Amino acid sequence: MKREKFVVKGLGAERTLKGTLAVKGAKNAALQAFALAFLFKDNLRLKNVPDIEDTHYMVKLLKHTGMRVKKYGCATYSITPYKQLKPELPYELSRRLRASVVLTGPLLARTGRVIFPHPGGCLIGNRPIDIFLDGFQKMGALLEEKGGSYILTAQKGKLWGTEHFLRVPSVTATQSFMMAAVLAQGRTLIKNAAMEPETECLAGFLNQCGADIRGAGTSTISVMGGALLEAQGRIFQTPPDRIEAGSFLILAALAADDLTIKECEPAHLEALIQALRQAGVCIEVGASTLRIRSSAQRAIHAVEVKTHEYPGFPTDLQAPMVVFLTQATGEALIFETIFEGRLNYTESLVRMGASINLWDTHRATVKGPTLLHAKELESPDIRAGLAYLIAAIVAKGESVIHNAYYIDRGYERIEERLRAVGVDIRRVSEQS
Ligand code: EPU
Repeated sequence: MKREKFVVKGLGAERTLKGTLAVKGAKNAALQAFALAFLFKDNLRLKNVPDIEDTHYMVKLLKHTGMRVKKYGCATYSITPYKQLKPELPYELSRRLRASVVLTGPLLARTGRVIFPHPGGCLIGNRPIDIFLDGFQKMGALLEEKGGSYILTAQKGKLWGTEHFLRVPSVTATQSFMMAAVLAQGRTLIKNAAMEPETECLAGFLNQCGADIRGAGTSTISVMGGALLEAQGRIFQTPPDRIEAGSFLILAALAADDLTIKECEPAHLEALIQALRQAGVCIEVGASTLRIRSSAQRAIHAVEVKTHEYPGFPTDLQAPMVVFLTQATGEALIFETIFEGRLNYTESLVRMGASINLWDTHRATVKGPTLLHAKELESPDIRAGLAYLIAAIVAKGESVIHNAYYIDRGYERIEERLRAVGVDIRRVSEQS
């Protein structure tokens, strides 16, 4: 892994960013879409896949299982199963990303067995997998734990349809069960399912290819299982990344002279758009664009934020929103309800001059406005890393953000895209 950092010269509260930012394909839809390959007899093609560290790891994982993966251009992949698949997710790769856990369901359903370690990913709280393990056992798999690995074996090689009620609406568990159910015998019901648009998008594609999935995008999903699917040349189109679009919108709200975010899906960002409008931001919403012009803006004021599963305020936008609130007048409570380690990054914003009180692992108050001062920061995870970039752009002076790797895990060539709209940002090797 290359050790690199970003050096950002801040605008010191001036609004000068101008131009257009195009949104890439959604990280969390593309990663999950790779897992679809296990449900197909033939070749599966994915389009608009972001060129980021996490998709590179996902490709390595798939290859390890015996999938032949080819890349065309910078955003299209073709995945073909070899005859004999190896139902094992290696420790080193699985520990790199949480999305590896999505593979367990379809791999188990396809091969009747899966061996995997506890998945890794960003350190944003406890990330148990009890819902997965309970659910696969309900579908008829036997669980063993050996040498730090979980081994699930489907009796007679097959999973059975069942009724799941998810203790919490886990995104990855919903998707993994939904995919496994496509190959299971009989009907599977997933209640209290995650309603994220990425799940609906995956189900829509599977249905085009012959699956029978109903209710994806609502809290109850029903899947009638059957045989392997055939893509027959159909291509999965990765939807736009709503978290990237939302982060750009927050940046624009703070620093745009006239900035348009294009190739996005505003309907997936209602919670954020509403919160920003409530704070006084004037946003021009088009069919696939969001525009912010400084001439239309007034002073912004604090708004309370409580993260919630979709369609509520996304936990993945909580850190950029806190940066926004450091520039708004008044005091606001941030209530992070999904993850218990996702406010730790606020300590660095405080070093930059923000007035933030962390009350416990889930709640903080932000008092603004405060002028942020450039600092040397260490990107702790994908989303907080991007929040630091936004903070550095708004701040006065030159900030350094170490651990560019974390930002690269979620955002494709971010510095090139930000530079094009006027951000003074450089990628520098840690050696220099
Ligand atoms: N949970 C359990 N048991 C489980 C699974 C989840 O208790 O078996 C709990 C988690 O501890 C957490 C809550 O359920 O408190 C929600 O977790 P969820 O499973 O929904 O999260 P995830 O699937 O691990 C995905 C995204 C995250 C995003 C969350 C919430 C992927 C690969 N990851 O994680 O994205 O924050 O949903 O929307 O899709 C990111 O992209 O940076 C990121 C962290």
